Order: sequence, then structure tokens, then C-alpha cells
Amino acid sequence: MSGREGKKNIILTGFMGTGKTSVAAILASDSGRCYVDTDRLIEEACGLKISQIFEQYGEEFFRDQETEILSTLPGYPPGSLVVATGGGAVLRGKNREIMQKAGIVILLTASPQAIIERLAETTDRPLLSGPQPAEKINELLQERKGCYSVCDISIDTTGRSPEEIAMEISFLMGDML
Ligand code: S3P
Repeated sequence: MSGREGKKNIILTGFMGTGKTSVAAILASDSGRCYVDTDRLIEEACGLKISQIFEQYGEEFFRDQETEILSTLPGYPPGSLVVATGGGAVLRGKNREIMQKAGIVILLTASPQAIIERLAETTDRPLLSGPQPAEKINELLQERKGCYSVCDISIDTTGRSPEEIAMEISFLMGDML
């Protein structure tokens, strides 16, 4: 017996600014699991910040790195990971498949207004570096709606703290945690 029977890895998805990174870090620490942030792994592998990767190599290159990192996830023991994925990871069907194979996919959402407020000061989101970030956020949210529907569980984070969300996920996971 490994003690992991019925346990699942937790894969967090959702738009930029929905709190994936903060919630994943709390959940990992509370449950004694390994915390994985795909954006940070890509930055480490490339030796560059996300914005530099987009600038120097383009979005497709970044998406390829994302797919490469995600492809390693199903190889980890069930119940060992809490993964924060980048907000655009769900854009590729292949990534969505890998995420579903790797564990329970939890979608964090927030109202467009909350996302706009949370990202008001952001300087490291290359997709929002244009002159009208609020319009861009609304446009991307519309475009991506269908892709985010791959999730097993969806949680609205509007007006709630990362600690509250982590607690709700722990509750919902029950014996799978
Ligand atoms: C992106 C989201 C970012 C990062 C990159 C692209 C996206 O991650 O992967 O800037 O396409 O939505 P966060 O969701 O952690 O901000």
C-alpha cells in the first residue's frame, strides 16, 4: 500500500489574476504536496522572464514550452502535486487532455471587473501590455470561455481570499486530497 490510493493531483487553471499561484502555494503547503508553477519552470528552463520569452521568441515558442512541461505531469505519483498552470495553457487541446490525465482540474474564475482590478498594476503579463488592457482582458475571456470548460470543479474567487479558496478546494477534494 502506498497510502496514495484514491488521491489525485490538483491542477489549477483559470484566467490571469484568478489567484492560481497563491492558492496552489497554500494548498501545497497545507497538504504537504509538491508545488509546481508551470510559468516559473519555463522561466527557469529558458533563463528568461515570461515577458522576455514572448518578446524574443514569440507566443508559439512559449506555448511549446508549456506543452513540454505539462507533458511531464502525468508521470508523477497521484496525490503528490499541486500545479498552477498559466492562464493560456488550456488553449491547446493537447494541453487540456494532459491536464485531465494528470489529476483533478480546478478552474478558478473571477468577474471581469475583479480581474481588471487585480491586474491593474501588472507588468509581467505580455498579453496585456498593449494600450487597452481592460478591453484585452474582456476579449480574451470571451475567446477562451470554451477552453476553460474542461474543468472538474469551478470556483468563483471574486471577493474571496486565496486562503478561503484553498480551504474550499480541500473540502471539495475530500478523500482525493
Ligand atoms: C498567460 C498567462 C500567464 C502566463 C503568460 C500567458 C495567458 O500566466 O502564462 O503571460 O495566456 O493567459 P498567469 O495566468 O499565471 O498570469
